[in-house]
Amino acid sequence: MSDSSIRFLLMLGLIGIVSGELSSTFYLTKCPTALLTIKAAVISAVNKEPRMGASLLRLHFHDCFVQASEKTAFPNVNSLRGFDVIDKIKSLVEFLCPGVVSCADIVAVAARDSVVALGGPSWSVQLGRRDSTTASLNIANSDLPGPTLDLNSLITSFSNKGFTSQELVALSGAHTIGKARCKLFRTRIFNESNIDSSFAKSLQGNCPSTGGDDNLSPLDVTTPNTFDNAYFKNLQSNKGLFHSDQELFNGGSTDSQVNTYSTNFATFRTDFANAMIKMGNLNPLTGSNGQIRTDCKKIN
Ligand code: HEM
Repeated sequence: MSDSSIRFLLMLGLIGIVSGELSSTFYLTKCPTALLTIKAAVISAVNKEPRMGASLLRLHFHDCFVQASEKTAFPNVNSLRGFDVIDKIKSLVEFLCPGVVSCADIVAVAARDSVVALGGPSWSVQLGRRDSTTASLNIANSDLPGPTLDLNSLITSFSNKGFTSQELVALSGAHTIGKARCKLFRTRIFNESNIDSSFAKSLQGNCPSTGGDDNLSPLDVTTPNTFDNAYFKNLQSNKGLFHSDQELFNGGSTDSQVNTYSTNFATFRTDFANAMIKMGNLNPLTGSNGQIRTDCKKIN
């Protein structure tokens, strides 16, 4: 290869074309109004229904964790709340800049804007992800950690994606907002011993031993609609909703970090934002891989 072609390739690499890297300015010239449009729609949705912000954050988590391995965006769209908001944002953005902004980027920005709208930290979202071309609604989300996992399995699940146990604890702080279904925490509130007894009793009212599988309870019993550090304080008093939540404070290696976050909201904010940036960069499709979906629910 000649010197000049090597120089040319290096230049392309520097501006991100060859390396396929994400960049926070990806839409600056391609669709300058995209980010503001997403933010306005998220604020309006969260003002109407705060939990919508939680659903958008969870959607991004799923997309990152599953897509990173399966290359299959939104495999269980039908079961995930928040998708209506994404659809609405997508049609607005398509009207402004047809065929430019990916669904995966919309979800990533909407998750950040939701956290901010609920009082949490902000971060710069890296952009330029593309959408997968292999959507299947039936793919099992085998890479997603389940609510019955113990600490070791949680650590393994996150470490399989390149996360440290510190990042696991920081990211779990997302459970400071949102709700969960009874069937996912029933065993804990009836059978476990490391749970505050009045907390367990009050949950049993809305989550009986049989029936009511889909009844909802907040993941953070104290301030369910605010992105704060109450989740960690709850863990200290055995008020984690999931078995997996309480595992982070159950006499193991992550206890001390829960203690830190429970007294230091600023540290939690910083660590959460950094871990979210890392999560958003998990093996994205970029460059000429994948596609820009027209309809976020299906491939073009
Ligand atoms: C540590 C391992 C994790 C486990 C085991 C877990 C599990 C779950 C489960 C089972 C639900 C409730 C689902 C339902 O009732 O349908 C849930 C809700 C939620 N999760 Fe997680 N999750 C984890 C980590 C995360 C992370 C890393 C994030 C984001 C950064 C996140 C954000 C959320 C949010 C915001 C909700 C509430 C959704 C809503 O109200 O619609 N979770 N999680």
